[in-house]
Amino acid sequence: MPDKLIEGEVCWRSPSNIAFVKYWGKYGTQLPKNASLSMTLSESYTITSIDFKSQQKNPKREFYFNGEFNEAFSARIWKYIASLCGIFPFLEEMDLIIRSKNSFPHSAGIASSASAMSALALCLTDIERLVYGTLIKDDAFYKKASYIARLGSGSAARSVYGGYSIWGQAKSAHVKSENKFAIDFNSEIHPKFQQLQDAILIVDEGQKKVSSSVGHSLMNNHPYADDRLAQANKHMEELALALKEGNTAAFIKIVETEALSLHALMMSSDPWFILMKPQSLEIINKVQEFREKTGKFICFTLDAGPNVHLIYSKDDEVEINKFIEKELKQFCSKRHVIFDEIGEGPLKIK
Ligand code: PMV
Repeated sequence: MPDKLIEGEVCWRSPSNIAFVKYWGKYGTQLPKNASLSMTLSESYTITSIDFKSQQKNPKREFYFNGEFNEAFSARIWKYIASLCGIFPFLEEMDLIIRSKNSFPHSAGIASSASAMSALALCLTDIERLVYGTLIKDDAFYKKASYIARLGSGSAARSVYGGYSIWGQAKSAHVKSENKFAIDFNSEIHPKFQQLQDAILIVDEGQKKVSSSVGHSLMNNHPYADDRLAQANKHMEELALALKEGNTAAFIKIVETEALSLHALMMSSDPWFILMKPQSLEIINKVQEFREKTGKFICFTLDAGPNVHLIYSKDDEVEINKFIEKELKQFCSKRHVIFDEIGEGPLKIK
């Protein structure tokens, strides 16, 4: 730590992301059993700021969520920060006042760990840059931020880049990838996929039924684990190609199969979990009917919960909004839909 007193504030806004090839199962220190590919969102984000001050004997630690002290989140945040002291030793001697808020209601059932952990990781990495003058090149800065985000939540590693990103070693000669951090995957995306929309249909606003860590651990002795690995590897290769070639039919097939595979894996775990609700299935059936009737490019994906993400092109926004209003909102809790879209990635707030 430099001798002089160092104090300041860093603030980052970082978005959530939706995986098209899902990360499910991990080993070692937050390493993924398979590679995943996601699209970073725009409107669903976390803003986190850290006031820091060095040279404190008994450093102050305060965490506020939406302006209030939050015990449950606080415990997770300080445990995570303590785990990073080998990487950021200066944190041990700093006052840290962390304030965080989400753009979406906490009860909306959106997985918030990707946005929350990436925003925090970007702030912590930025403190290193300010204190030591390291990580000047953006490339090095985002690589480290992604590495740090991964240690908080695997999917958060992907949120440090806008557009598309890949995390985890893909078994493909065509896809550049790493296990320890995510890689930006935007250089070869066909225009058809550069302005995708994501309407998040909130079927259930409750908390997740199964935590991600329990979910990942269920893959350790899963009877279909090997087949899942083979499927994910195949999907990575095929989806990378579909995104490059503008092949919407292949995209739909892979994205929907991935979503249903994730849920099928949970339904065949020991113990098993059914995370979809009857309304999730009603929506899926309606989407399939609408696609058959209109020939539009539209598909669904799911996270580890009952809410349905509808993916479609901005060109069809008007027609699809009508479809959502007329046929799908009836299956949502309080007719709640969050309209999001592909985003540009995190933003440093001055
Ligand atoms: O980042 P975690 O540990 O919350 O795991 C996320 C897992 C999924 O959201 C189901 C899939 C993914 O790749 O985002």
